[in-house]
Amino acid sequence: MDRDICGIPIRLQLMKQYPQILIFLFLLAMVCKKEMNTQAQEVGLKIPKGFPLPNIPDNNPLTPSKIALGKRLFYDTILSIDSTIACGSCHKQEFAFADNKSISPGIEGKLGFRNVPSLANVAFVAHFNKDGGVPTLDFQALVPIEDDFEMGISIQDLAKRLNADSSYQSAFEYNFGDVASPFTITRALAAFQRTMISGNSKYDKVMRGEETFSTQEKRGYDLFTSEKANCSNCHSGFNFTNGEFMNNGLYLDYSKDTGRQRVTIDSADIGKFRVPSLRNVELTAPYMHDGSLASLEDVITHYKSGGQPHPNKSSTLRPIALNENETADLLIFLKTLTDTTFINNSDFR
Ligand code: HEC
Ligand code: HEC
Repeated sequence: MDRDICGIPIRLQLMKQYPQILIFLFLLAMVCKKEMNTQAQEVGLKIPKGFPLPNIPDNNPLTPSKIALGKRLFYDTILSIDSTIACGSCHKQEFAFADNKSISPGIEGKLGFRNVPSLANVAFVAHFNKDGGVPTLDFQALVPIEDDFEMGISIQDLAKRLNADSSYQSAFEYNFGDVASPFTITRALAAFQRTMISGNSKYDKVMRGEETFSTQEKRGYDLFTSEKANCSNCHSGFNFTNGEFMNNGLYLDYSKDTGRQRVTIDSADIGKFRVPSLRNVELTAPYMHDGSLASLEDVITHYKSGGQPHPNKSSTLRPIALNENETADLLIFLKTLTDTTFINNSDFR
């Protein structure tokens, strides 16, 4: 198959042979878009202006009660072997569902090797984790649940635990017509996470014409998108990411964490990580895959230097001559991406 419309695989060859099929596909796509919009609206999901529709798989439609079950699971320490750690222990709403530590402890204080990413707008992500090793949000939950450094429990044992609890039992039955299982546990968690949409920062309000940037914020915005600073070369689009895997010259030696190379085993991918969204970046310190940069000032200092000359470093990264005022402007602009509505939204608590 070459393309996928509403989950229906379409062969491009077929389209060439029967051009009439295009009209049918167009109508199908319209109906599909409308259906997804209605689904989003029914559960009260507001898709901000300028955002695309989120990826909601056909086998996991969003419903209010499934979202509620996902939320209960997200905050329940029953998901870890010794009942001490929940998803919400590392992904905290006050930090846009990231954390304020370089590395956040899992069970028994064990430390993994990556910094907790924000879950804001995770419904729009295409490849999960910083190396893109997980294909769907629904699958992703298996990683922390089974990881010895995070929750350390087999999904089968977790399912047994949940099925021994009568209120979980009835909630799974109600939402899936089934017991708690690897399929239903991960689907419920994904449904809740898909509602974590952040699009009401000052930046968004300015783009919608509801507010205006201060002169300093505007200078910072112009700099961010300028050829000189070139940030928007990678941090582009509605979610401030091009979704690609890139090496931003953090290190010369990535042997501690080779990034995308762990998935592709291709040396050209050493030190490449998925370009992170910069939404709520003021709240998600420390930064980078290992949380090694403590502040946004440190991040800007890094980019000003042009980064380490690693062979895989993106060729677009060069030293940037920013004076003190310009550095301050850029910083001020990054702070306009903070969405206080998102971190205070009681639907997520
Ligand atoms: C011990 C801390 C910890 C716990 C507990 C934890 N996470 Fe995470 N989470 C992380 C880290 C670290 C990463 C980055 C992993 C990577 O890139 O390899 C991550 C990545 C993710 C991602 C990928 C985001 C992206 O943009 O690619 C999702 C989704 C996620 N976690 C959801 C969950 C859910 C759901 C749970 C509970 C079942 C959970 N996490 C429990 C630390 C944690
Ligand atoms: C060549 C692509 C590229 C360009 C250009 C670029 N970045 Fe990045 N940026 C990345 C990648 C890749 C990462 C993640 C690196 C990692 O995890 O180690 C990142 C990480 C960041 C982070 C940390 C986010 C977090 O949650 O940890 C910030 C902040 C940031 N960039 C800001 C900027 C600014 C400001 C500019 C312009 C001066 C810029 N970036 C230019 C690719 C780029």
